Amino acid sequence: MKAKLKKIGVLTSGGDAPGMNAAIRAVVRAGIFYERTVIGIYEGYNGLIKDGEYFKEMISKDVSGILNKGGTILRSARSDEFKTEEGMEKAWQSIQKAKLDGLVVIGGNGTFTGAHKLGIKYNFPIVGIPATIDNDLVGTDYTLGYDTATNTAVESIDRIRDTASSHNRLFFIEVMGRDKGFIALRSAIATGAETIIIPERELSIDRLEQILDYGTNNKKTSNIVIVAEGAGGAVKIANELEERTQAYDTKVTILGHLQRGGSPTCFDRILASRLGVLAVEGLMKGERNSMVGLINRKARFTPFLTAINGEREIDEELLRVDSILSI
Ligand code: F6P
Repeated sequence: MKAKLKKIGVLTSGGDAPGMNAAIRAVVRAGIFYERTVIGIYEGYNGLIKDGEYFKEMISKDVSGILNKGGTILRSARSDEFKTEEGMEKAWQSIQKAKLDGLVVIGGNGTFTGAHKLGIKYNFPIVGIPATIDNDLVGTDYTLGYDTATNTAVESIDRIRDTASSHNRLFFIEVMGRDKGFIALRSAIATGAETIIIPERELSIDRLEQILDYGTNNKKTSNIVIVAEGAGGAVKIANELEERTQAYDTKVTILGHLQRGGSPTCFDRILASRLGVLAVEGLMKGERNSMVGLINRKARFTPFLTAINGEREIDEELLRVDSILSI
């Protein structure tokens, strides 16, 4: 490995995701393993702008005992200031002052949009680790946090099913996913939900009513409809159905931020560990302006712009399986 790139910064930005801590640990330990200095930057791009106490050298002990913790020890932010010319210039000043040679950013869409601009404007090496429960990036089969969030959703939906079947009720359950239905689809298959409403596939109220009536005719004692947050909102859809028919005793549950917390699954811990090591090794080999991911279990570096602008398609086969099995 090249001896240059002696000092690497690491930050987490955007919505936190389970597995971020495991990724921080991997970056810090891989950096130390390769005899690099690693600087933890607190509060994402806000900390990068603010400098001073927001920069701290990380030693191995600093990342002990965090592998299994949700959230991010470096904390996170969605920085509006960083989006301005002045904010980005301040961030660049901090980078120079700290004598950083490269940066690992852990986050999703917004994080990589900022990283792309910063890296291009100042010709500075940045590698990203995909971490968002939404799984909405191109260039990796799975983003950090998605597996954990889906498991959390599944556990919650199973619980709701218990009460729904006891009362013959229809539940609309809203799961996260700003623009995409990945959490919705997987959790629907895993819980046997009656149907899903996601941004990628339209479902008319007519069709929804048909599906529910079909289940009732087949003696179903409860109905679960999973609504992805980006598909218009569970409350609105429940109201629309209730305007059409009073046949169902309807409740709405919004799972919300509980999907973002909690201890990462084994899958997310291993993914985070692999991507952390790969990100540091990538930077050392001259990777820049790109996100590291795993596609078919193989490491891939994808340019930030492709990762954020590419269209991540929903899995048609999973959709088919879902509709076959939910009758
Ligand atoms: O990080 C992804 C995500 O959880 C989306 O699913 C959701 O739309 C958004 O973040 C919520 O963001 P915030 O916590 O800033 O309200």
